[in-house]
Amino acid sequence: MLVMGIESSCDETAISVLRDGKEVLSSNVYSQIETHKVFGGVVPEVAAREHLKIIHKLAIRTLEDAKVTIEDIDAIAVTRGPGLVGALLVGISYAKGLAMATKKPLIPVNHVHAHVHGALLGVDASNDEIFPCLALVISGGHSNIYFMESPTDYELMAYTIDDACGESFDKVAKLFGLGYPGGPRIEKLAQQGDENAFKMPRMVEQKSKLYFSYSGLKTFMVNLKKKHDSELNEDMIADMCASFQKEALGQLVRKTKSCLTHKRVKSILVAGGVAANKKFKEYVSKDIPVPCYFPNLAYCSDNAAMIAGLGYYIAIEKGLDNKDFYNYGWDAFSRYDLSSSKR
Ligand code: KG4
Ligand code: ZN
Repeated sequence: MLVMGIESSCDETAISVLRDGKEVLSSNVYSQIETHKVFGGVVPEVAAREHLKIIHKLAIRTLEDAKVTIEDIDAIAVTRGPGLVGALLVGISYAKGLAMATKKPLIPVNHVHAHVHGALLGVDASNDEIFPCLALVISGGHSNIYFMESPTDYELMAYTIDDACGESFDKVAKLFGLGYPGGPRIEKLAQQGDENAFKMPRMVEQKSKLYFSYSGLKTFMVNLKKKHDSELNEDMIADMCASFQKEALGQLVRKTKSCLTHKRVKSILVAGGVAANKKFKEYVSKDIPVPCYFPNLAYCSDNAAMIAGLGYYIAIEKGLDNKDFYNYGWDAFSRYDLSSSKR
């Protein structure tokens, strides 16, 4: 089955063609990062306009790259949310138009859930070997752990009560003037530092064994920098970054282990921007006793292959001719109008 995935939830327009949920025939991502840089963050209205300019061209190029035509596509999957509503509506409206004109099923997909499918792309293992599993979605906006019995079944076990893990990397990088996105910059600098140089706080451990918290760690870093301001040099910043990284990633490992005590699983799927961190892979392989699957670098951050991936499994579960897929009366959802089941 060929599924076309369409993603426009934030500042990346992405389109992909995927065969049978795992084989990527083409995947294009158009980043708006340069456009938003001057504003110091993503401007929702600008993002929506940029999506509109590129989306049709990108769809045509993506079909060409996959060496297929729109007639060959069996279903279209599109991000419904969470995200910037204006940006989402561009992708959704385009997908609706395409689906109606070509009489194809249209499958709305949860972006955060879809991230997990980034870890399944190109994986040899059968789904019987992978599920039930835990799935970590660790990005700039989310730190979620799901228990999954199948590729479409998401039980939220843990989430952050304040900042997300990637967000804390970004904030600490900003504190030291390292630029955006912070994760890769901190990871690089931490390689030159001593991860045991500074003792980090572990407040959240006392509150909950399952939920994440990163804002205390960020505040601690602000105060640590202030305390050492007069003697701050590159070596000390590298030590601070390494110590921060160890704690930020360590929290992910500890919470994953806590979840493992509640559920019997065959594997762990790791997804989202933070999954690109090599130190995290090292900690996980040392501490987690079941096989872990990480996405290729291209599928850690936002992409449309992951959208097509979840779309494929929803199509398999409900059947391509399900009437829900021909009902176009739904719209986007943002991050803030979610019930916890949609997180
Ligand atoms: O999934 P993603 O590309 O975008 C969303 O947030 O949806 O994740 C981006 C986040 C940023 O916060 C970035 O700093 C973080 O992932 N990140 C990393 C690394 N690469 C990206 N965090 C830690 N280490 C990395 N190597
Ligand atoms: Zn994302």
